[in-house]
Amino acid sequence: MSDPLRRVRHIYEQDPEAYHRAMSSRFTEWMLGGRRRKVGETVSGLVLDVGFGTGLSVPYYPADVRVVGIDISPKMLEVGKRFAKEQGRHADVLVMDAERLALPDHVFDSVAFNLCLCTIPNPEAAAREGVRVAKPGAAMVFLEHVRSHLLPVALLEEAVNPAMVALQADHFTRRTAEVVGRSGVEVLSIDRWFAGVFNLIVGRAPAR
Ligand SMILES: C[S@@+](CC[C@H](N)C(=O)[O-])C[C@H]1O[C@@H](n2cnc3c(N)ncnc32)[C@H](O)[C@@H]1O
Repeated sequence: MSDPLRRVRHIYEQDPEAYHRAMSSRFTEWMLGGRRRKVGETVSGLVLDVGFGTGLSVPYYPADVRVVGIDISPKMLEVGKRFAKEQGRHADVLVMDAERLALPDHVFDSVAFNLCLCTIPNPEAAAREGVRVAKPGAAMVFLEHVRSHLLPVALLEEAVNPAMVALQADHFTRRTAEVVGRSGVEVLSIDRWFAGVFNLIVGRAPAR
């Protein structure tokens, strides 16, 4: 495992319950809940949830999907599996590096990335892996915080980025829509909100 990835894992292994509580707050629900619902409306069939974390997206997925969640942090996955069960749902969880998925080609009907391309050391490699394991034409959806398209906001993000990377391995200046496009995903729509700090990118895996 690379040093940057070891560091990411170390950070997320610290206190998964605290992450889960913070990300379940009313404020977070106000900021992200509507788009998490849209992610849920986009996916179907066999869904790969990359950077599954504590499974916060699970309640938004339709009841008839089968969810496979992968994450580099076993402790996040442990909380996630329990949370899914509390929601009356099931998720198959696997400890795995998103940049090197130990999964076969072209098996998933949908691939979802929720708030993880900001921490994955090489986001383009992870997006390419998502494309590789997706069936041709599969739904690919990315709910991410990104470098805003609004310059004053982007400059603020540039200012806080060094501290956030140092403390949380959380990158605030990634041009995620470009990364996703370069990975081979056919981008169909980009929904920008919160002054462009968040993007919901909906696309599909290329037809073979
Ligand atoms: C901010 S959390 C998001 C969790 C969840 N998707 C959510 O919506 O709340 C980012 C997650 O990505 C995981 N992660 C970061 N780099 C990874 C990698 N290379 N492979 C797999 N998981 C990774 C972290 O362990 C963490 O659980």
